[in-house]
Amino acid sequence: MTDYKDIFNARGHLYNEATLMCPGAREAERIALINLLNPKAGETIIDVPAGGGYLADGIHKQYGSEVTVICVEPAEQFSAAIDPFFRVILEPADAVTSLEDRCLDAVVSLSGLHHIVDKRPTYREWHRLVRPGGRIAVADVASNTGTADFLNIFVDEFVPGGHNGMFFSENEWLEQLTECGFSHVEEELRSVPWVYDSEDQMIDFCVSLFSLQKASRQQVLEAIHHYIGVETENSGGIRMMWQLRYARADKTA
Ligand SMILES: C[S@@+](CC[C@H](N)C(=O)[O-])C[C@H]1O[C@@H](n2cnc3c(N)ncnc32)[C@H](O)[C@@H]1O
Repeated sequence: MTDYKDIFNARGHLYNEATLMCPGAREAERIALINLLNPKAGETIIDVPAGGGYLADGIHKQYGSEVTVICVEPAEQFSAAIDPFFRVILEPADAVTSLEDRCLDAVVSLSGLHHIVDKRPTYREWHRLVRPGGRIAVADVASNTGTADFLNIFVDEFVPGGHNGMFFSENEWLEQLTECGFSHVEEELRSVPWVYDSEDQMIDFCVSLFSLQKASRQQVLEAIHHYIGVETENSGGIRMMWQLRYARADKTA
């Protein structure tokens, strides 16, 4: 089986190209997570796995250098797009050995846990890294949603190496984060539409982000309509009805 780092090193540049092509497409999902995290001036936070630094860029855009964000990304080529403003740690989410115990105020993670079979070692590592009184905020694909089916049925058929996401069921974070020492766990399924100027732009973005070059544009369009759903705005803008599950938790002691 192909190692995920090889998959993301191979796909990373296309993923990052999509973000450059439509930097605002995923804004709703990014803002929802940043608001849930609620960064404070003077805090140190890790974005993990950071990919090309999309979430870190969003925090920096809103808080500037008042908040220190460190990007942790195991796939080196994928991390190449991270803004050199950020410190980058090329380590996996469950073993950030470059960082000491209790050195962080918070951990934030966007759409990067669904490739991990047993996520608890990763949560335990985050518990080690966060100081007492700190917190974590996460967002990822929920099971039994159109978003999940789009990824594990359609994208899986066309993306090199396939896509077998282990998505999040209701209360999974409540149970597992509590088991790993966190408290006050809250979770919620949210609609966070991806937005585009046109249907063509939506197809271009998805072909690049998910490496769907083997699919025809018509197949991509039909799959988006079938699994996710699309709304057209009066302005002609397009909303692709993406959904994610969000959670936050505290480390009290
Ligand atoms: C869809 S990207 C998300 C990147 C970024 N957080 C974003 O929102 O743009 C998935 C991320 O998960 C990481 N990843 C994939 N499989 C993994 C695994 N088994 N263990 C740890 N990280 C993994 C990849 O390196 C990549 O950074």
